[in-house]
Amino acid sequence: MSLCQHADEQGKKVFWGLEGLYVNETEICYIDNDSGKIYYRGYDLEELVKYASFEEVAYLLLYGKLPNARELEEFSRQLRARRFIDSSVIDLLKMLPADAYPIDVLRLSIDYYCTRKKFINTGSLKDNYELAIDLISKLPVVLAYFYRISKGLDVVLPREEFDHPANFYYMMMGREPDPVEYEAVKTIFIIYADHSLANSTFTAITVASTLSDLGSAIIAALSSLKGPLHGGANREVVNMILEIGDEENVEKFVKEKIERKERIMGFGHRVYKSSSRGDPRVPILKEVARKLAEKKGGKYLKVFKIAERLENEVTSRLGSKGVRPNVDLYAGVLLYLLDIPPDYNPAIFAISRIVGWVAHVLEYWKHNRLIRPLERYVGPIGLKYVPLSERE
Ligand code: SDX
Repeated sequence: MSLCQHADEQGKKVFWGLEGLYVNETEICYIDNDSGKIYYRGYDLEELVKYASFEEVAYLLLYGKLPNARELEEFSRQLRARRFIDSSVIDLLKMLPADAYPIDVLRLSIDYYCTRKKFINTGSLKDNYELAIDLISKLPVVLAYFYRISKGLDVVLPREEFDHPANFYYMMMGREPDPVEYEAVKTIFIIYADHSLANSTFTAITVASTLSDLGSAIIAALSSLKGPLHGGANREVVNMILEIGDEENVEKFVKEKIERKERIMGFGHRVYKSSSRGDPRVPILKEVARKLAEKKGGKYLKVFKIAERLENEVTSRLGSKGVRPNVDLYAGVLLYLLDIPPDYNPAIFAISRIVGWVAHVLEYWKHNRLIRPLERYVGPIGLKYVPLSERE
């Protein structure tokens, strides 16, 4: 009998990992395994990637509707206007070790920012949207600043005329992305923006359900996202592919991983393991990655081909168990193709997913209920206290 079915005499069933349990109602993201589609507020993600800007998608997730021209202009203006960060934050970044984990740098920066502002949960939607837009705008800037400071490069100031994804890439790399690079960055920002009740999103609403503040909920979500079973996988994917080194080594690598019963990063997913179609985000990301890899050639095309061979090898061996590629396989590859160091990958996931975390917290607060599950006690009871002198 599996742990999940184990029940004691009173029939208290334990759902390990809350697997298969519905714990919330939402209008934000719907994953339809029958059609193999993901919807953000009812819109097909594939269409949003194709036709929408990141700003439109962020507005849609946060406010529940696609913005009209005036709303989009104002939202974009807000994001652009808030890209400037306090010099004390730059001083803070300069104090950090150059090899600090970028996702830790984001967490520290949010903590510093909210502590300085003495941010608390006033219950004011206006205050919460203010903080959200501030952080959505500022976190990419913090990440780009840290990247350049840690490499001894001059920081690059934001460019008013660039939209959110383009400005981030420009501030990181010191140059404007070309059209294919821009499509890659924008696709990553849109695809990573939400994905229903992922562990980090559940963490955010768990913290928010105590009526703690939005900043604390985001910090908690970041801490969850860092884990290699979740947002840390896109970093492990790239390191794994670089370790494999060549398409010819893929079969042996996969065989040995399976023999050692080790998890292969970028594969498997709690939500898609029962779906024959797998993670709908994979083909979207893969096509953009193919385009960029073929354009850049050399080591970039080699990495893409290793990923493709990995996808085929793992799917042929483990697909029957529902282990197929997930979002992080080709998201990791795309970030490599964009010359982003792998350590930055989870942080880039975070500067996009903050939109989904905020949207879910604000939605949850509309019908807030303290999250407090039970655990089934299986330890001894009624033991007698033994004085220290009589213990062995
Ligand atoms: C993300 O939730 C979200 O929405 C997350 C996310 C988002 O957008 O927010 O989609 C982003 O986190 C994607 C996932 C990134 N993580 C990884 O790529 C890490 C590797 N993946 C695995 O650790 C795993 O697939 C999980 C953690 C993602 C899901 O694990 P589950 O649902 O708990 O799977 P399971 O343990 O029930 O596995 C079922 C079987 C097992 O085999 P048996 O013991 O039954 O023989 O599948 C096997 C597992 O061993 N399996 C894998 C595997 N994942 C599952 N085998 C090899 N490699 C893997 N990656």
